[in-house]
Amino acid sequence: MATKDTDNERLIARLVELREIVAYHFRRYHADNASEIPDADYDLLVTELRSLEEKFPNHASSSSPANWVGALGKTTFDEVEHRIPMQSLDNAFDLKELRSWHERVERRLGDGGFVFTWTCELKFDGLAVSLHYEKGLLVQAATRGDGKIGEDVTANVLTIKDIPKILNGDVPDSLEVRGEVYLGLTAFADLNTVRKKVGQPTFANPRNTAAGSLRQKDSMITANRNLSFWAYQIGEIIDGPKLTSHCETLLWLRDLGLPVNDRFENFEDFESVEKYVTTVERIRHDLDYEIDGVVIKIDDLGIQQKLGSTTRAPRWALAYKLPPEERTARLIDIEVSIGPGGQATPFARLEPVFVGGSTVSTATLHNADQAAIKDVRPGDLVIVRKAGDVIPEIVAPVLSERPKNLAPWLFPSECPSCGNRLIRLKEEAATFCVNYQCPQQIRGRIKHFASRTAMDIEGFGEQRVDLFVTEGLLNDVADIFSLDFDNIMALEGFGELSVANLRSAISLAKTRPLGRLLFALRIPHVGSRVADLLAERFGNLDQLMSAEISNIESVEGVGSVIATSVSDWFSEERNQTLITRLRVAGVDPIDESILDTEVLPQTLTGMAVVVTGSLDGFSRE
Ligand code: IVH
Repeated sequence: MATKDTDNERLIARLVELREIVAYHFRRYHADNASEIPDADYDLLVTELRSLEEKFPNHASSSSPANWVGALGKTTFDEVEHRIPMQSLDNAFDLKELRSWHERVERRLGDGGFVFTWTCELKFDGLAVSLHYEKGLLVQAATRGDGKIGEDVTANVLTIKDIPKILNGDVPDSLEVRGEVYLGLTAFADLNTVRKKVGQPTFANPRNTAAGSLRQKDSMITANRNLSFWAYQIGEIIDGPKLTSHCETLLWLRDLGLPVNDRFENFEDFESVEKYVTTVERIRHDLDYEIDGVVIKIDDLGIQQKLGSTTRAPRWALAYKLPPEERTARLIDIEVSIGPGGQATPFARLEPVFVGGSTVSTATLHNADQAAIKDVRPGDLVIVRKAGDVIPEIVAPVLSERPKNLAPWLFPSECPSCGNRLIRLKEEAATFCVNYQCPQQIRGRIKHFASRTAMDIEGFGEQRVDLFVTEGLLNDVADIFSLDFDNIMALEGFGELSVANLRSAISLAKTRPLGRLLFALRIPHVGSRVADLLAERFGNLDQLMSAEISNIESVEGVGSVIATSVSDWFSEERNQTLITRLRVAGVDPIDESILDTEVLPQTLTGMAVVVTGSLDGFSRE
């Protein structure tokens, strides 16, 4: 009897748990349009929940998520047949492919004496929709679907502020406009901020969010997503103006009140098209919306017609694709790196993947919280993102691809470099190894000190620092200036010339300007700009070291946080010893105040200087 009771308790606990699981996946599928599990898995969960509710009717309820499916069914929209198919575009992935398309076009047009220009536009990363206006009134909106049949999303499109419901001016009898519905980056970030605040899971990328938002059964959800739209093409026009070029079309669409992106340009020669493409590649991240390429179109509509289309795509247009910024890759392992300040950062080791224009085999997971939220596990297939110069990062696991029994990854409690306990202060996102003598921190401090933007010691790159620290030749940055070159000479890969070069590079670094030294020392909050400001104001180390906080704070661009940090750093005994050792070793930064006084006498000698105004809290004396 006792066993039966415990069995029932277990089953009821499972029933309660299942209700949460089913509700979660229902929302992921229907509200977020981002299902995480295959439909078959979802159906199994619902079946299990239903049978448990049948077994325990006291625990069943009409509001159970087991009944949600039956009540709402799957999200479906009416079909819309496109009168003119919505074609796709052929792609070029590099300049060579772009040029061969150009050659194909020229060949096809032959010696017909055609003179034409090219219009280049951005290729927006959203989803294509067709808007149908009757006598200037928006009557229907449809997704592209398979190009022939799309879905009727009129109710949702009516909630998009960017899209005019009534067109301006002289409107044609019937107009079908095509364009891209997208979610701007600021809107995307704002949406995720709100979701985080109310405890909802955040969205992974703007494109999928836009797609999901447009396919909502409840238009109120779409309305809250702040979608936008760019118009870029006419599908069909009845009783409208005689348009002869694509540029003219875009300008006319804009006059009607449709949003047309203003970065389109018309070029007479193909070299300018190539230049446009490379410029867009560079400014891609300055935009508040995502693009995945450039669309190049022959401007003359007559020539467009002459070139016609294949079954798939028009011959008169081409999509030049920018390198993808998101890809999936297999996660081999998660490790933790220790920065020069002791910060412990989890990062993923990946099977190499080409993303964001380069091959990536590591990606950051930022911090312990992010790693826990993303819950990626060694063995997972993960989405990797690399946008521009930003460090590659892990977006999310592809849960539907997760191998069975993958154990969650746990943030280590000990430093992987020195074994000391890792510390995380309350309210702080970062975790730290607080052992100043941690070999990884030592390496990091020395690498930074010698790096190009700091003391710029040539031949003192990362690999050599690793080697010298491992060999016990370096323990801190002051050791650089008392290196035993005989020991170095004995190391593999070093000869007389390389040692001589190293010796002179180190010697040269002794007289780097004060700003560089201050930056090289990694004083918290002192970046290279602040370091230069401090050097300019105080001229030499002694002046800075003996300065009051208020004095440091009075430097323009230096606030109280930085001033306190600088003062604290110099008052630490460990740092004072370091400075003394650097000085004894001959590190003697150029006194920038002397440089100034050398200039001053030439300009001010013999002149009377009048100081006017008053100082708060000071008398004239
Ligand atoms: S023109 C027949 N212009 O790219 C050509 N398409 O890969 C009609 N797209 O389905 C498309 N920006 O969703 C055109 N400025 C632009 C575009 C653009 C994005 C999308 C569109 C199309 C897909 C083809």
